[in-house]
Amino acid sequence: MAPILEIQNLYKNYGSLEILKDINVSIDSGDFLVLVGPSGCGKSTLLNCIAGLEPISGGKLSIGGQDMTNVSPKDRNIAMVFQSYALYPTMSVAKNITFGMKVRGVDQSTQEAKLAQVAQQLQIEPLLGRRPGQLSGGQRQRVAMGRALVRDPMLFLFDEPLSNLDAKLRVEMRTEIKALHQNLGHPWST
Ligand SMILES: Nc1ncnc2c1ncn2[C@@H]1O[C@H](COP(=O)(O)OP(=O)(O)O)[C@@H](O)[C@H]1O
Ligand SMILES: [Mg+2]
Repeated sequence: MAPILEIQNLYKNYGSLEILKDINVSIDSGDFLVLVGPSGCGKSTLLNCIAGLEPISGGKLSIGGQDMTNVSPKDRNIAMVFQSYALYPTMSVAKNITFGMKVRGVDQSTQEAKLAQVAQQLQIEPLLGRRPGQLSGGQRQRVAMGRALVRDPMLFLFDEPLSNLDAKLRVEMRTEIKALHQNLGHPWST
């Protein structure tokens, strides 16, 4: 079984600025990897490289055993939750979550079933009709997570998922992310 994510000798430069130097990572399906480091050390850059939002300057990157080094972000089967959440401000919570499925041509009944499932999982059912501006930081965080969850991706990337939350919510979300990880199981390991 190939690792779900394999990074070999990855380099990332911005012009003459060397940001990532010889990064090597290998993680299996069901694994949980946390990147820790001071601000500016390159955590977001690495996530962006994995997601394909930034081209890499050297090395190789495989997902599910497939070379993804030059594959476009939409074809990498990755869901990313950004630090800023990047929700669509004019859309309701429900639309924010289903929009990606709509764009990909997923049929209506599947969209609704998936929405209901993640709304229940993240306990955001009462919020589905609201807009992002009418939500607290923690609620926005959950919506951003819901949007990622309906994707059913091979890999979830979370960029500082706890940084915008107050102390109490931080503890709650930490537990929630852990539960999420356990509940997702290992769908790609067989
Ligand atoms: N588009 C860019 N152009 C030039 N330098 C950048 C760019 N994006 C990030 N950097 C630099 O790359 C380094 C790593 O940034 P980043 O990955 O955002 O760090 P972290 O997420 O660990 O705080 C920083 O020094 C930052 O200034
Ligand atoms: Mg960052």
